[in-house]
Amino acid sequence: MIKVKGVEKSYNSEKVLRGVSLEFGKGDFVSIMGESGSGKSTLLGIIGGFIQADAGTVFIDGKDVSALSEREMAKMRSSVLGFVFQSYALIPTLNVRDNIFLTATLGKKTDPETKEYAEGLIKRLGLSEMLDKYPTELSGGQCQRAAIIRALVYKPSIVILDEPTGALDSKSEAAVMRVLTEINRDLGTTVIQVTHSEKVAAYAKKIIRLVDGEIVL
Ligand SMILES: Nc1ncnc2c1ncn2[C@@H]1O[C@H](COP(=O)(O)OP(=O)(O)OP(=O)(O)O)[C@@H](O)[C@H]1O
Ligand SMILES: [Mg+2]
Repeated sequence: MIKVKGVEKSYNSEKVLRGVSLEFGKGDFVSIMGESGSGKSTLLGIIGGFIQADAGTVFIDGKDVSALSEREMAKMRSSVLGFVFQSYALIPTLNVRDNIFLTATLGKKTDPETKEYAEGLIKRLGLSEMLDKYPTELSGGQCQRAAIIRALVYKPSIVILDEPTGALDSKSEAAVMRVLTEINRDLGTTVIQVTHSEKVAAYAKKIIRLVDGEIVL
């Protein structure tokens, strides 16, 4: 369902990714580890279509991500690919509720079932009291949980998370990992996460490492 083929990326003269090839199937749960600066976020950004690779291709459900129009990409992001950025990327002018719903639904009305599902996630991740607040009024960990909920609300078939528990205490970390484990097991969601924590990485079925711009299995 995701095929990464020969992806290369340099910044200035620094070669960050040196021909990365990988495949992720339905129901995979994979952790990507690697030193700071090893290119993990760059790789996720290329898979998510946010960063253009210098060479190579990413196919999601058979479609070349780099060839999609903005509109097709937006549609894919709302239903197929949930993405949690390392820096959260909440919209500062929207409160938490609107960040969770509006950005996930592209302004479409939220159906009752989705609303109920979202409310369950909001409760489990402890954000019920925060819905009317704006991102600047939240702690880093609260922003992180809001970004995770936003990515999951529409039950995407793939969810990509860049250090999803980096700002969380151990209780919130466990709550997030329980949710990810459940959607992987019960909904068959493909989960790809980057983490520096061996403990968080171990929730996945497989761990891969990025070393010097190459994948070490
Ligand atoms: N937009 C950019 N312009 C120039 N250099 C960049 C840019 N984005 C990333 N880099 C460089 O590419 C390298 C890989 O960055 P990346 O963010 O992918 O690392 P990472 O593995 O996610 O690190 P971390 O664990 O700290 O998040 C780094 O050396 C970084 O400085
Ligand atoms: Mg990173």
